[in-house]
Amino acid sequence: QLPTPQPATAYAPSNIALSKYWGKRDKALNLPLNSSLSISLRDWGSTTRISPSSTDEVWFQDRLLPADDPFADKVLRFANRFRRDQMMPLKIETSNTIPTAAGLASSASGFAALTMALVQAFQLDLPDDTVSMFARLGSGSATRSLWHGFARWERGHANDGTDSFARPLEVRWPAFRIAIIPVDTGPKSHSSRDGMNHTVATSPLFGAWPAQAESDCTAIQNAVQDQNFQTLGQLAEANALAMHATMLAARPALSYLKPESWQVLETLWTARHEGLAAFATMDAGANVKLILEASSAADVKAIFPQSRLIAPFDPL
Ligand code: PMV
Repeated sequence: QLPTPQPATAYAPSNIALSKYWGKRDKALNLPLNSSLSISLRDWGSTTRISPSSTDEVWFQDRLLPADDPFADKVLRFANRFRRDQMMPLKIETSNTIPTAAGLASSASGFAALTMALVQAFQLDLPDDTVSMFARLGSGSATRSLWHGFARWERGHANDGTDSFARPLEVRWPAFRIAIIPVDTGPKSHSSRDGMNHTVATSPLFGAWPAQAESDCTAIQNAVQDQNFQTLGQLAEANALAMHATMLAARPALSYLKPESWQVLETLWTARHEGLAAFATMDAGANVKLILEASSAADVKAIFPQSRLIAPFDPL
């Protein structure tokens, strides 16, 4: 029996994986085939407010969503995991600070903020590991969005998912930067869920991914802990391209990257050849994210004027 819900508000930052989660060993529980590691985007994220109400209402960016809206349905079904069959109508308001023009998905920060707000609203005194596990049920990458800074999501081995959650890394790296290069700001053609499942089911290259991704994750964690930028950048870029290679080999092929994404990569590789210290990573969309340090920020801006710079460790 849950207590009457209290008004609650929570913020969660979005995150970019430096070592990717790609492929599930359990689709219902969002259990991954490999561990992953991310950096949070500080003030780019989601705020969710929950208050008791007379009927269920889901609001997004100050707009009441119709009951048959797929996002509203997802949010309410997630809330049902907490309130189960108890009659506790809720007003759930979510707003994103992620610029629409950046074309970044917000399911990670959205489900992390929703999970934290529900935990608070129902006054559940849960350890972070459990909160991260709950967030995982909404979206895998949400496990890693409960904190600022770097976080590692451990794949775990248990069939019930009780050992599959994220924890923050105790690393502060004030010079660390992410630059988002928007390529395509429209909705993506295939959800990451569908893309993952299709790749696992049909790509002859997928077999090599889980072990490679697991060893990349550990090597990337070591590079983060040593603040070894070159090693981190090389590994993160190779990891992202290997993930996209599994998709290109899927049957039929799956390509989230657009010609302009490849142009950005070519420009980056040429600039790197000429000394620029920046590396790329891409997710289930066409946008390219660069990894760099503050000392390269001006050069990156000169080469990619459309880029948006994020300082994950600076004060808000
Ligand atoms: O959390 P999901 O189900 O949207 O999957 C995220 C998948 C990637 O963004 C491609 C990789 C990652 O680890 O975030």
